[in-house]
Amino acid sequence: MSKDGSGGTGRRKFLQESAALGGAAALAGLVPSIALAQGARKIKIGLMLPYTGTYTQLGVAITNGFKLAIQEAGGKLSGREVEYATLDDESEPAKAADNANRIVNRDKVDVLVGTVHSGVQMGMVKIARESGVLHIIPNAGLGAATTQLCAPNIFRTSFANAQTTYPMGQVMAKKGHKTAVTLTWRYAAGEEMVAGFKDSFTKGGGKVIKELWLPFPNVEFQALLTEIASLKPDAVFVFFAGGGAAKFLKDYKAAGLKGKIPLYGSGFLTDGVLEAVGDAAEGVETTLHYGDGIDTPRNKAFRLSYAKAFKLQPDVYAVQGYDAALLLIAGMRAVKGDISKKREIIAAMEKAQIDSPRGKWTMSKGHNPVQDFYLRKVVGAENKVVGVAVKALDYPPAALCKMPS
Ligand code: PHB
Repeated sequence: MSKDGSGGTGRRKFLQESAALGGAAALAGLVPSIALAQGARKIKIGLMLPYTGTYTQLGVAITNGFKLAIQEAGGKLSGREVEYATLDDESEPAKAADNANRIVNRDKVDVLVGTVHSGVQMGMVKIARESGVLHIIPNAGLGAATTQLCAPNIFRTSFANAQTTYPMGQVMAKKGHKTAVTLTWRYAAGEEMVAGFKDSFTKGGGKVIKELWLPFPNVEFQALLTEIASLKPDAVFVFFAGGGAAKFLKDYKAAGLKGKIPLYGSGFLTDGVLEAVGDAAEGVETTLHYGDGIDTPRNKAFRLSYAKAFKLQPDVYAVQGYDAALLLIAGMRAVKGDISKKREIIAAMEKAQIDSPRGKWTMSKGHNPVQDFYLRKVVGAENKVVGVAVKALDYPPAALCKMPS
């Protein structure tokens, strides 16, 4: 086997040859293990994620979750050994296409998993569309990835940005809030999160009186918090995540706004940060497709298993990484480990019902999860589930995806 794991042939040629072999084998129904027929070449998974900067912990949690699911499946993908190529994308959009190109074409990964940041995701989607590599997005909510730029080989196991905030606008309008100020980072994720929130908040009779922005990953919140205090809205809606979210929660409290102007957000505001912020997040309500306290045997088993393996509490990012591997496992199972049967893998992934710690979910036509959104409230060190805000939400609608054949 060649060093790059491609079996010594060009990638395309390899795919064609093994497709022919796999097809004949399936027809005859004689080959018990395609893995044996292919000399048990390892499946190479590329993890392109942030391992430095404000989203570091998100990248780590996704990596942990992914590897945990593979371990639980016996450390293999349908009999095939797994190896990883890891690349730190630094949440840096300017380097995204080059980085993705490197991991796909130099490291010759079979599957490209990543990333967290929507701006970086744009570059990855470009390379995934050009190369045709099987691509699983375990976080970044870039709407276009599963609508205008959807493709057969691109799947997401997380959310679309606006999908996570549309439920919050409804919740806040129902609570009787009439005015809100929004605050977030000025990049695709922040813009789409605000758009989703605004859509349902205004439909519910609310009004966004001011949109405040700062460049990613800036955390100089002081002047903006002063402005919020003087605007006196009924409520504040924000999107921040990772290190930035922890700093924002502490600053909101330090500015004397906590308890005065209720703070809401997508659940990224309070996921993975509760141990770091003390009581600054207490009582904050958010909407998300996961909550620590989901009271199911599936979630409890996952949390126990994750805590045991990594000596850390899992969060939404860990669940998304875990589900990325579950999705790949479903695809690989359908072809008995024959990674060359891409069409069949894709068909199986499209049909998969993922038995996730978050609850069962399915793929939309655009390859984004159709899933329930929970209303959560921070109680102590837990994102407690208060109820279901919206069931089986497909938003932005998958109808916006015209899937190329
Ligand atoms: C994104 O950039 O799409 C993004 C990043 C972090 C999150 C959610 C979305 O927590």
